[in-house]
This record gives sequence, structure tokens and C-alpha cells, in this order.
Amino acid sequence: MKQLVILISGRGSNLQALLDAGLPCRIAAVVSNRADAEGLDIARAHDIPVAIVEHRDYADRDSFDAALAQAIDAFQPDIVALAGFMRILSNGFVSRYHGRLINIHPSLLPAYGGLNTHARALQDGVWIHGCTVHFVTPDLDHGPIIIQAAVPVLRDDTEQILAARVLSQEHRIYPQAIKWLCSGKIILDEHDRVKFMNREQSGFALVSPSLE
Ligand code: GRF
Repeated sequence: MKQLVILISGRGSNLQALLDAGLPCRIAAVVSNRADAEGLDIARAHDIPVAIVEHRDYADRDSFDAALAQAIDAFQPDIVALAGFMRILSNGFVSRYHGRLINIHPSLLPAYGGLNTHARALQDGVWIHGCTVHFVTPDLDHGPIIIQAAVPVLRDDTEQILAARVLSQEHRIYPQAIKWLCSGKIILDEHDRVKFMNREQSGFALVSPSLE
């Protein structure tokens, strides 16, 4: 069974969704850069080993990333999943986990990389927003996309309401992406493109505001 290490910095609702999903892999550890991350309690409640590598204890990004990699590698992961991990990772760290480091981001990338995605989407007046699971590359929030979910932006949405609508979709697509990775249904090919093995795509359009 493949081994998964999950990196968090905070609340851990995506971690909870991954636990609830019955993944076909073993969650070997949860690693946090903050000792007070609420998600650590979720991991402990499920008897999942936790490791804490406080970024404040390190002089620079490279030394933090080296310590982080050491903590992760102790669990020999096949997949490393960032789930609300709020540190920018160095190129060296990212290439060490090439093809097995993934992230969930609360926007339809490549739109709205970075922070405050929901506020920026509301500010721009977009009618469709969403979330993305992607492979991590050195280019922040720009790696090959595995799966996305789109949600409508409704007229009276606040940042909080929109964030909650997106988050509930994050909790659906992150487990799906990890299931595909664990079962070998997707790989990152030699051109750094996400390749699906034997899968037909079906779907429908989300039109927002809806047609009359
Ligand atoms: C999520 O919105 C995720 O997309 C972003 O950070 C948030 C983490 O939430 N990267 P949680 O800690 O999983 O509840």
C-alpha cells in the first residue's frame, strides 16, 4: 500500500476530508510547520504520527526545507500532499518530490494564485470560481492540473460564503486526486503533463448565471 504524508499549517478540514474518504493508501504522517495547527489534533485523534518542524526555528528557507524534507522522508512517502500548508517551498525541495508532491488551491488556476483568492474573485465580479488540485512545481500555484471543481458566484456572496462553497468542493476533489495517484490512474509524464491511464472524460457545462 502506498504511503501518504500530509503537510498542514492550520485548521485541517482537507485532512479530515482525506481521512473520511477511505483512501486506498496509508496516511503515514501529518507534518506541520506550526505546533498549534488545529489539524494536528485531528491526526492525533486518528492515531496518525505527527511531526512538527517550526519554520521560526530556522534561519532561512533552505535550512527549514532541509529539516522538513528530513521529517517527511522518515516516513518514506510515495505521495506528499500539501493541505493548507502555508509556506513557499524552495526549488530544491520541490524537485526532490517531483511527480509526487501535490497541492490544493482555492481558485480555478491559473486564475488567482497566491492569497485572498475569494476576495479577489468577488472584487473582479467573476461568475464562476472554484478550486484546483495540481502537482507542485517551482512556479508557485502553476503546476500541472489534476482536477478542478467550479462553483457559481452568487449575487449576495460574501467572502465567507464563497469560501465555504469552494471548500466543500475541495473536500470532494482532493480525495479523488489522491485516489487516482495511489491507484496509478494518473501520472506526470515526461513532458510534465498529467496523463490519465484509460479514462474517458465526460462532463457538463457550468453556466453562471444560468441560462433562461
Ligand atoms: C484550503 O482552502 C486550501 O485550499 C488552502 O488552504 C486552505 C486549508 O484549509 N491551500 P484546511 O486547513 O484544509 O481546512
